Amino acid sequence: MRAIVRDTYGPAAGLHLREVSRPPIGGNDVLVRVHAAAVDPGVWIFMTGRPLAVRLATGLRRPRVAGLGRDLAGVVAEVGAGVTGLRPGDEVYGTCETGSLAEYAVARPQRLARKPAGLTFEQAAAVPISAVTALQSLGVAGVSAGQHVMIIGAGGGVGTYAVQLARASGAVVTAVCSGARAELVRSLGAEHVIDYTRQEITDRGERYDVVVDTAGNRPLSLLRQVAGERGAIVLVGGGHARGRWLGGFQRQMAAPVLSLFGAARVLGVTARVDRQSIEELTPLLESGAVTPVIGGTYALADAAAALRELEQGHPTGKIVVTIA
Ligand SMILES: NC(=O)c1ccc[n+]([C@@H]2O[C@H](COP(=O)([O-])OP(=O)(O)OC[C@H]3O[C@@H](n4cnc5c(N)ncnc54)[C@H](OP(=O)(O)O)[C@@H]3O)[C@@H](O)[C@H]2O)c1
Repeated sequence: MRAIVRDTYGPAAGLHLREVSRPPIGGNDVLVRVHAAAVDPGVWIFMTGRPLAVRLATGLRRPRVAGLGRDLAGVVAEVGAGVTGLRPGDEVYGTCETGSLAEYAVARPQRLARKPAGLTFEQAAAVPISAVTALQSLGVAGVSAGQHVMIIGAGGGVGTYAVQLARASGAVVTAVCSGARAELVRSLGAEHVIDYTRQEITDRGERYDVVVDTAGNRPLSLLRQVAGERGAIVLVGGGHARGRWLGGFQRQMAAPVLSLFGAARVLGVTARVDRQSIEELTPLLESGAVTPVIGGTYALADAAAALRELEQGHPTGKIVVTIA
């Protein structure tokens, strides 16, 4: 099969399209024929091995898994003897273990769900990590109807879902993004838009019940200013390009302590992409309440270019890689 592989950690230039053997499956695994994959800052982190802490999980000197990419949508090709509930031919979406930038990938059944009816493979691949992160970010703060919610980084992978999911739960959304994405986020349900290239988030003088920060590049003191007395600040993004060891994720890890030093609750999110969370999204995707925003589509051979676009830090919605 054709797959994107790398021998070492490093920039996108180290990615190669190679002919490799299909990954073998264990008794509790599923082999998926991948039709589309998506990339997100997590893939960039696995590619570069930065921040260094990630290597504790992925291999200290070199990546343990040569493949890259986690989000996928495709068709079940084979199931292990212990797998129930999925059969060859089923259309699925979710995450995988061996690299979704490949024609075949091994996935755990508990991280796969049936592809929503009416979505293309490309749209479905754009969902799992970013949409589940958005869902769990709003969930941890208990976002409910009538609340005022600010989404920082509203035009990106997580942000475009967060805007739609907050709106679907009846919240009034203020989106923070660059001006080029203002129309998009309005079309997704944002009532107010702050163009961060012209205004700071404090400029409107409003207080929000929940502030979801996916951009991760503002001081907490600024986030506290826009969170009301009883507001919640949800830290999602660590600013993926910063910090040699932890890349900015220390702020999320320290959230419980940071909560002690101000009125607003500070909540750190570590998304858990499992079947239950993916299935929670399925009806919203099928009804059209949530629509994946795809800002770029690349062929498998051009996966390195997809990663480079991501590295710039300003993708519109999700970047998808199609695998014919
Ligand atoms: N905690 C978790 O479990 C978890 C899970 C998934 C992702 N993440 C993290 O969450 C972050 C966002 O992920 P993503 O997939 O949404 O990334 P993304 O698709 O690259 O989007 C990043 C967005 O940030 C916006 N941005 C950049 N600078 C900004 C600023 N100064 N103010 C406001 N917005 C700004 C960009 O908007 P413009 O294009 O408009 O400039 C872009 O839309 C990353 O750090 C990622 O590692 C965390």
